[in-house]
Amino acid sequence: MSKKELIIELLKKYSDNFICPHCKKNLKIVDTSFTCENNHCFDINKKGYLCLTSLSSLPNSTIYTKELFVSRRSVINNGIYNSIHVEIIDLIRKYISIPTSILDIGSGESSHLNKICEKLSLEFKCAIDLAKDAIELSSDYVYNDIISLVADVENIPLVDNSIDVILDFLSPGSKKECKRILKENGIIIKVLPTANYLKEIRRELGHKEYDNEKLVEDNLKKNNTILETKKLEYTMPINKELSNDIVKMTPLTHNFETSKLNIKEITISLKILVLRPL
Ligand SMILES: C[S@@+](CC[C@H](N)C(=O)[O-])C[C@H]1O[C@@H](n2cnc3c(N)ncnc32)[C@H](O)[C@@H]1O
Repeated sequence: MSKKELIIELLKKYSDNFICPHCKKNLKIVDTSFTCENNHCFDINKKGYLCLTSLSSLPNSTIYTKELFVSRRSVINNGIYNSIHVEIIDLIRKYISIPTSILDIGSGESSHLNKICEKLSLEFKCAIDLAKDAIELSSDYVYNDIISLVADVENIPLVDNSIDVILDFLSPGSKKECKRILKENGIIIKVLPTANYLKEIRRELGHKEYDNEKLVEDNLKKNNTILETKKLEYTMPINKELSNDIVKMTPLTHNFETSKLNIKEITISLKILVLRPL
């Protein structure tokens, strides 16, 4: 089956989950489009994804480029984040006895989501991001039943109370939309960087330490119950090839000549918060 045929099958199966980003009416497959009763029509791309956004034009980011996402995929698939994925899987199992649905908001190219889904028998798996280049790569995971959408976290095209787990891996989230689409006992897995995250790159670039951690957590506390927090920190040796991908995968090196950076080891230091919206 082609990627387009696969996504059409998935959208037919889960059409009850989707709403039109313009008018919030339900969507259904008509020929090869997703259409609502008000005739808002979203074409399904032959690459296996679709744009479900009400924005008239997509942001043209010079930071979140195809090259960044390709490098990120290579780093994630090299196993650098495996311990983080194991922890996230354990937390999902701990808080939701039988999780059936997951949405990754600001998914990028979706390799984190794909790795996490490999170990959970979920039914509905969806990734949204506003960066078209990211979602184009993400659509490769349609072979693992992941639905990839160009969509805005501020206007999520999913029905109310439909999702068990929202994954928010280093991305912006919308408190209103997350609360709306989560089931009553649903959770948000929020992954945040700590001061030591990629510290070898910050050091080489002469950046100050990242010190937003407390501010971000204080803001999250205003709208969520923090059910649990886990911090994982580890430093790994890396070879030249992986080092090249790591420096290219992060917005930190935007506007720098990445070939000048010489990183021999890398620190992953992330906080995983389990949140329930208030
Ligand atoms: C730091 S990246 C993280 C990507 C991915 N979660 C990962 O860890 O590889 C942040 C992502 O959020 C996306 N993003 C930013 N604003 C967004 C919005 N309003 N709606 C959807 N995605 C957004 C960006 O395009 C980018 O892919």
